[in-house]
This record gives sequence, C-alpha cells and structure tokens, in this order.
Amino acid sequence: MRNKGVFAILALIASLLLAACGAQTPAAPSEPTAGTTTASPASELAVGIVLPTRDEPRWIQDETRFKEALEAAGYQVEILFSQGDSSREQANVESLITKGIQVLIITPHDGTAAAASANAARAAGVKVISYDRLIRETDAVDYYVTFDSIAVGAQQAQFLVDNATGSGNPLYLYAGAATDNNAFIFFEGAWGVLQPKIADGTFVVANSSEAVALSNEATLTREQQARIIGQITTNWDFNTAKTLAEANLTAAPDDAKGDVFVLAPNDGTARAIADTFATDPAVTSFLITGQDAEQASVQYIIDGKQSMTVFKDVRTLVQSAIDASIALLTDGTPEASGSYNNGRIEVPAVQAPVVTVTRDNVQAELIDSGYYQASDFTGLP
Ligand code: BGC
Repeated sequence: MRNKGVFAILALIASLLLAACGAQTPAAPSEPTAGTTTASPASELAVGIVLPTRDEPRWIQDETRFKEALEAAGYQVEILFSQGDSSREQANVESLITKGIQVLIITPHDGTAAAASANAARAAGVKVISYDRLIRETDAVDYYVTFDSIAVGAQQAQFLVDNATGSGNPLYLYAGAATDNNAFIFFEGAWGVLQPKIADGTFVVANSSEAVALSNEATLTREQQARIIGQITTNWDFNTAKTLAEANLTAAPDDAKGDVFVLAPNDGTARAIADTFATDPAVTSFLITGQDAEQASVQYIIDGKQSMTVFKDVRTLVQSAIDASIALLTDGTPEASGSYNNGRIEVPAVQAPVVTVTRDNVQAELIDSGYYQASDFTGLP
C-alpha cells in the first residue's frame, strides 16, 4: 500500500468486489480510510476478476496473490474461473456485468473468442483489463497488464544456447496453445535466439518439419509461426505434452537422441515432457526449459529433473492490475509503458520483467524474495 489514499480506494474496490461476488460483509478495515473517496453502492462501482482455469498452478498463484493483495485490508474476495471453456467464461463475464462491475480483469481462455465478452462489457460501460493474455480482434480492450513475454521465450532459448557446444545438437521444440496469443509471443522470443543457432548447425530441430523448412528466416510472420506451432503445440495441457513427446521420441532416429535440448513453453508441460524424455534409454541427457516457477517445477529444478524456469512474479502483475483498476475507477488513465497490437487496435500496456531461475539462484530469487518458503522444498542447495 503506497499511501492512505490508495488504501482507501483499494478498500473500496475490495468491498465492491466482495459485493459483486455476493460474499459476506467484511469487517471494518484495520486502518482508517482517508482521502476524498467515499464508499459508493455496489451497483455504482465494482471490479470483477475472471481467470482461465483452476487446473494449472499458475492461475492459482494469481488467485492467491489477488486475494492476498485485497485481503490485506481485511476483506474476502471471490474470483471466477472459466475452466478452459469460452462459453463458461462468457457466462462468468455476463454474471459480473449483471452484478454491476465497472472494471473487468480477465485472462481469456481463447484470446479471439473472448472478444465477444469484451464487446459485451464495453456495451455495458465496463472497462476491460486484459490480464496476462491479450484479447484479440476487438477494440473493446482498454488496457493490458502483462509480463515481458518476448523475454520469456528469449530467456528459455538463451539458456539452451548457453549450454550447447559443438554442432548437430538435437533440439525438440514445444509450444503453448494456439488459442493463446502468448504462445506466439513466447515462440517469437525463442525463435529470435534459436534461429541463428539452427541456421549455423549448432542445433538440429528433431520434431518440426515446418521449423526446419523455415530455419533460414530470422523473423516469422504470424502465419509461419502458426504452421510451426501447429506441429509442436501442447495446448498448455500435461497429457497432450506427454503424448506428443512420446510420439516425437518414437519417431526420432537414434542420431536425434543422445544429449538433447528441449524448449518447453511452461512448467506444467516441462514436467510432462521431462518425465517422458527421462524414460527413453537412448536419451543420455537432456536440458529442458520452463516458465512460471511453479512449486512442483522448482522442486524438479532442485532435484535436477528440470533445468530452468522463467520466474514471473505474479505479485507485480496483480499490483499493476489493481493500480490500473484504481485509475479506471477514478476516471484516470492507467500508466502505460508501451502497447500491444491485438489485430484491431494498439492496446496500451504495462509490462513486468521476468527472471531466469536455475538451481543456482532458487534461493536468491524465490526464497529470499519471499515468493516461497524454504520449507516448501526439500534438498535446497
Ligand atoms: C501464461 C503462462 C501459463 C500458460 C498456460 C500463458 O498465457 O502466460 O504463464 O503457463 O498461459 O496457462
């Protein structure tokens, strides 16, 4: 909390959020409210949050951090999940609109399908904040709060490049869901670093004929990216990732095994792919990337079963979303450091930095920063 004015507005948002979600009346805040803002009826002001699924630890992290940030003032918060289903997402948004929200914070399951929800919110006078994932193909997105997703892919790729020597190293590529704009941005970031090293023979792509065909292209169009992603998508799903990795290893000749390198797009898929590669006797060693610093993957990293993750401090993103909500609720303009094109408009955005985490800096980045407790893990170096 930066000052009492912010505290007052945050408390107001929290109470309205609470009212919008039909939870019980909160206790009085532990600190007196200050500033000129006075509480308004729930029908006048409120924020609603919609997250894509409870089934991935990444979004539970966001839920937890939103609750922490808002409950710091003694309030309860309810957040709606869409469970990987665009129609459920739309129903969630509609129910929040009906409850009188003024700001919608939403991570779309499917970035393009969610345009309909954004349009409905705009038509009802609700401001829309795209949270982490960009809603595409609509002008009804007011603001985008995100991490530096190009850097996520670039750091994953840089880790592989930094650990490769000689030439002819087998490289297995995996990507996120084609319905998620981030999957393209992560891949774009990775491709920028990997492509020169594929072109010069350091790496040989083992599981994507489209990537091989495009290996002399320093930058790819979205359509070219889509062709590669079509072959290597995990759909952000553990089982899809596992099945694809199994199929890739079954199809791979022996010279595509030995010491291998794996670009895995996030931690959930990384663990599935790592477990699969670990069982192939012809794979003598593998380095594998990740993203999200999920607790299970941090343990994998400590245990030497996953090589790295990209830490995205969700506390920062949550704070940015709350700051933007406050600005929008008070008729201000959220601070933007740039913009993202969503296929229709340039959406003003703020972007949080990301950090590579290996076994060497788990303690410094994840424990000393208070993100996790040392007791969450065994065998910390
Ligand atoms: C997020 C990642 C997450 C992935 C799967 C992406 O949009 O940026 O943090 O791992 O979705 O849920």
